[in-house]
Amino acid sequence: MIRLVYVSTCAPGLSIDDVYAIMKVSQPWNVQHELSGMLCWSGEFFLQCLEGDRSEVSKIFAKIATDRRHHRVELLIAAPTNVRWFGEWGMGFSQLMASHRLDLPRGRGESFNPYLLEAVDLERTFEQLATFAQRLAID
Ligand SMILES: Cc1cc2nc3c(=O)[nH]c(=O)nc-3n(C[C@H](O)[C@H](O)[C@H](O)COP(=O)(O)O)c2cc1C
Repeated sequence: MIRLVYVSTCAPGLSIDDVYAIMKVSQPWNVQHELSGMLCWSGEFFLQCLEGDRSEVSKIFAKIATDRRHHRVELLIAAPTNVRWFGEWGMGFSQLMASHRLDLPRGRGESFNPYLLEAVDLERTFEQLATFAQRLAID
């Protein structure tokens, strides 16, 4: 199993409805392919963690990386793991609002810029993002 975390910049004009559309496709796909993780959206950036079988993570990441709803896709980590951070979810969704403050050694009190995240801070970042998480009702 591997864990992959990337950051990207939203396409101009991307709305919450566009993000819901992404989640609507992602939920069933990821559950079916035993992928877990979380998509975080700040309005300006995406931060996503994907965990699962190496070939499944690679396959979906190849699609995601060329998706025109975002750009400047940069990997933060891609590493083997035996433990899922998001075992219980297909794909969690966390919307980061201006009022949310992440408590991290770097970037504390500044506006959220996931390009500045370091690998050692990722688990803690996702733990905090999970506290803002919503479960989307997908029909
Ligand atoms: C930021 C972002 C995250 C995405 N995450 C996922 C995901 O976790 N799972 C998924 O199936 N599709 C995800 N997608 C959508 C894929 O890029 C793609 O549109 C979807 O897999 C359907 O691909 P297809 O039209 O080639 O079948 C994401 C797209 C974006 C922009």
